[in-house]
Amino acid sequence: MQNVTFFGAGYVGLTTAAHVAGTHKVVVYDPDEVKRTAIEAVLEGDTDHLYIHEAGLVELLRKNKRNIHPTSTLDEALEKPELIILAVGTPSIPETGHANLKYLVEAAQAIGSHLLHDAVVLVKSTVPPGTSSMLDDVLFEQLGIAGSPARVAVGACPEFLAEGTAMADLRTPYRVVVGLDDPQAQREVHRFFRTMYGEGTILMTDVASAELSKHASNAMLATRITFVNDLARLCEAVGADIKAVTRAMGMDPRIGSKFLNAGFGYGGSCFPKDTRALATFARGLHVPLPIVEAAIAGNEVATERFTQNILASYNGDLTGEQFVLWGVGFKAGTDDLRDSRAVEVMRTLLERGATVHVYDPVAGARRNLEEDFESALGHHLFTYDSQYGMAPLVDHPSIIIGNEDNQFRSVDVAPFGSVRTVFDGKNVLSAEEVLALQEAGVQYHGVGRGTLTGSASRPDLVAYLRHHYMDG
Ligand code: UDX
Repeated sequence: MQNVTFFGAGYVGLTTAAHVAGTHKVVVYDPDEVKRTAIEAVLEGDTDHLYIHEAGLVELLRKNKRNIHPTSTLDEALEKPELIILAVGTPSIPETGHANLKYLVEAAQAIGSHLLHDAVVLVKSTVPPGTSSMLDDVLFEQLGIAGSPARVAVGACPEFLAEGTAMADLRTPYRVVVGLDDPQAQREVHRFFRTMYGEGTILMTDVASAELSKHASNAMLATRITFVNDLARLCEAVGADIKAVTRAMGMDPRIGSKFLNAGFGYGGSCFPKDTRALATFARGLHVPLPIVEAAIAGNEVATERFTQNILASYNGDLTGEQFVLWGVGFKAGTDDLRDSRAVEVMRTLLERGATVHVYDPVAGARRNLEEDFESALGHHLFTYDSQYGMAPLVDHPSIIIGNEDNQFRSVDVAPFGSVRTVFDGKNVLSAEEVLALQEAGVQYHGVGRGTLTGSASRPDLVAYLRHHYMDG
């Protein structure tokens, strides 16, 4: 398999195509001329600006430019590929929360009516189990109508990229999962991935298991974060430190130390969407998934609790109050605001009559925010391209840390003159940093950092135990 065509030049399609082009001839098909032109301009070195933001993507596209051909023409896209990778969007249907498979079906129809040779089709988009079989039917029917001699096997190859580290994830993934039911296609695709990855990284499965593995992984990670956020609330109540608790938990190799950071909830395009999609899918099949349902609800609780803490600190009245928000992307280094908890908190502050001054090091994140909140911009919402740019314009503000960017790991009070409170949505400040702030007269609220905020009353706790936990 030397020739690969990607359908869809979105985030997943383009990053993966850039990587595969290091070893194979790649065609990137997208009917959107604007995307094609943008890719061409980057390949030619005319601009560094793409419609998606991912560190290292532009450089990799240029490095592998000999092997990359963007096109908006189906004939070109389907002239040669032995392997076709579908990476078209599957946005949620607003009324139901189901992934919209319309674009995948359209892609399958297009392939079926143009393809004249044998090929394997792999679905990379995040889809419910059964989708590959459905596309297999569509393709079979369409090839028949077109009178094509081509035989096509359809399988699943879910993507596990995390935004901001996609290029490294592609180079050295934890695993490459490929689901195919046809043995010959399995062998060919396995050989293809062996040109890029070690044997131990590649897992060949049946189609349905591969399809489910993406949702299963994301739901597990989301559940893990919600679990830690639940415990963080208990830490506040008993005066414990969630960071110490999770460190202790993580030292058990059965648990592991990753993805145990407490905060004001998870965001992004994957965890919220995929957990909802999995829950909705299972509900439709009358399969109960109470833990996934709880993880989804728990994430909202984590954000609400954080906002409630801000409100409580101002006695419920934010009218005319000034906030500085550092980091609006759903995590550091991204322009993606989808399900960003920082944006949710900001929305509540604006609704309550506060003014919010936003800095995010990613220019695209600021641009997206300005577009989404156009009506508040310049009145109650202001954006800045430097971290302390708003300092001369605000008086005794509170600072909200909205994501894990390294720039936010220390707070310099001097440019502001004084700071009222730091609300740390992702617990990025070290204990030393917090103590220094407190010594400078700044209050601190993290998530589950009871030892630092002294939120629990030890005598009350002891009295509670004496009252309820002594028999006789
Ligand atoms: C995630 C998965 O990591 C990736 O494997 C999958 O393919 C897509 O979904 P992504 O959404 O890009 O990737 O970002 P990730 O780094 O996983 O963070 C998701 C959210 O969880 C962010 O809001 C982050 O701040 C939050 N998070 C992560 C925590 O609150 N605590 C943690 O310990 C880790």
